[in-house]
Amino acid sequence: MTVLVTGGAGFIGGNFVLDWVAGSGEQVVNLDKLTYAGNLETLASVAGNRRHVFVQGDIGDRSLVERLLAEHRPRAIVNFAAESHVDRSIHGPGEFIRTNVVGTYDLLESACGYWSGLPQAEKDAFRFLHISTDEVYGSLGPSDPPFAETRRYEPNSPYSASKAASDHLVRAWHHTYGLPVLTTHCSNNYGPYQFPEKLIPLMIVNALAGQGLPVYGDGLQVRDWLYVTDHCSAARRVLEAGKPGETYNVGGWSEKPNIEVVKTVCALLDELRPRQDGTSYARQITFVADRPGHDRRYAIDARKLECELGWRPAETFETGIRKTVRWYLDNPEWVANVRSGAYREWVTRQYEGATT
Ligand code: NAD
Ligand code: DAU
Repeated sequence: MTVLVTGGAGFIGGNFVLDWVAGSGEQVVNLDKLTYAGNLETLASVAGNRRHVFVQGDIGDRSLVERLLAEHRPRAIVNFAAESHVDRSIHGPGEFIRTNVVGTYDLLESACGYWSGLPQAEKDAFRFLHISTDEVYGSLGPSDPPFAETRRYEPNSPYSASKAASDHLVRAWHHTYGLPVLTTHCSNNYGPYQFPEKLIPLMIVNALAGQGLPVYGDGLQVRDWLYVTDHCSAARRVLEAGKPGETYNVGGWSEKPNIEVVKTVCALLDELRPRQDGTSYARQITFVADRPGHDRRYAIDARKLECELGWRPAETFETGIRKTVRWYLDNPEWVANVRSGAYREWVTRQYEGATT
């Protein structure tokens, strides 16, 4: 048996592939375009493994995807491939529309053509799992209940709008053509192999480099944090037992204001790799101009996944963030390699002159 994973050289897809190869006897075909966010070093430990087949390519390349489907005959497609960074979507939304919207459409078309030609038993068993985000639901007020699956869509950034559009396409391919789709909406992930443009790895990497820790606005925006391997276990569970056509929210029951997250990272670094002058890394915190259209609060109600499929996160924020900080301290080569020239250009453009 084989599964086709897209975006499996990125942060969550990479963790998913590593877990899959370690924990299942099945083959995984990993299709990734290797954008700035895709990194084969994340997959170094499975490079020689016959159960992992890496293919560089675009989910929108129908002839490639159709060839891969015909050749490997997967029982499922898990679609992680996307442009994923909100700040980049503000500077350049085009790539988000191309991959997240048009790319998902192309992938659905390829999947549908393949699925409709399968023998009945394989057709019944086939699943298309689309990995979406809680950001499609918009922003919560301080005392609003967390997002349930019934929450209406209110995306506020080009990124979340492009993910919302892809979710609608996935839904439509189920209702119109019968493709057996599943969609998950996960909250903010953190953990090993996350590209240091996102809050937690950026703070670790900047702290160690003696640079400023840029907190947007007042730092009181709230996110619901989930350790990445818990997202991977949720995706596996939904793939295994989710009901086609259904959507499932995935979250860590772990809401934190950004400033608290940054201070926690600083405190862990103070303990594990103290600054040479004996002061706290917290002195490097700088408040910078806010993100345009910045959503104030996300929180996930993950009771459906727990009640119907029996999933709960294994990590708390306290255990997960300690593991994460340790991982970045233990893997300086991975960090050094992803901070290429293109990375430095992005950081300069995004943060130069941004201090408030
Ligand atoms: P990421 O940016 O780290 O990785 C994305 C991967 O997709 C990269 O390896 C990239 O090369 C690949 N890719 C991009 N365009 C492609 C294309 N056209 N064809 C093939 N591959 C392509 O992203 P991530 O943080 O790992 O997120 C993975 C998925 O999970 C995304 O769909 C994202 O919307 C969703 N998600 C992320 C989070 C989070 O906190 N990071 C939370 C919820 C949902
Ligand atoms: O909620 C799920 C989403 O989480 C995913 O769909 C996205 O792919 C993922 O990028 C993430 O989006 P966020 O915008 O919430 O993540 P980010 O790490 O960019 O920012 C987290 C919070 O920290 C957010 O409120 C903005 C703030 N922030 C971020 C950066 C990069 C800062 O204050 N300073 C920064 O330098």
